[in-house]
Amino acid sequence: MATPFAPSELFSRLVVTEDDIQRRVGELGAAIAVDHRASDLRLVTVLRGGVFFLADLCRAIDLPLQVDFLAVSSYAGDAPGRVRVVKDLDDAIAGANVIVVEDIIDTGLTLNYILNNLRARQPATLEVCTMFDKDIRRIVDLPITYRGFSIPDRYVVGYGLDHAGRFRNLGYIAEMSREVTGL
Ligand code: IMP
Repeated sequence: MATPFAPSELFSRLVVTEDDIQRRVGELGAAIAVDHRASDLRLVTVLRGGVFFLADLCRAIDLPLQVDFLAVSSYAGDAPGRVRVVKDLDDAIAGANVIVVEDIIDTGLTLNYILNNLRARQPATLEVCTMFDKDIRRIVDLPITYRGFSIPDRYVVGYGLDHAGRFRNLGYIAEMSREVTGL
């Protein structure tokens, strides 16, 4: 499939191809459909990066389900992982089977906060589905039920992941050149 722009000197390496991502979306969707038959299934994602994966994933799950969105912002400074909800879910989740759909989990601090926040609303079940997992960087242990790919500790863009707000619309993920990220 055509991409909005070709890999260039901005990217040093293709990490996961569009074909591999789409194949994995299908597998994850099929697994979720088997596990969640006859349940009140809610897919919850965190704006903005998770939207791309959510849109593909929900169409790969052959079940009636609902989607909802949350936005958080990190506190600058001395409280790593402490985030503030800046857009809450529209619907209550008490008694529902909730899957938090994430683009990437790095240290896990952000998601840990979100899971604690959602758990307090008493869903029947609360699971995590992430497309990419930098598991080597994990600081807090998280219950990840569905995982697309484990990836190395590199800054990647595409499939919802951005650098300074750009590149979310790539169908693949690529490692950014160090000259660009400065990392
Ligand atoms: P965590 O709290 O350290 O797990 O941070 C997770 C968030 O960091 C993700 O939701 C992304 O917004 C961002 N992030 C982590 N690694 C990358 C990356 O390689 N590219 C783009 N964003 C990233």
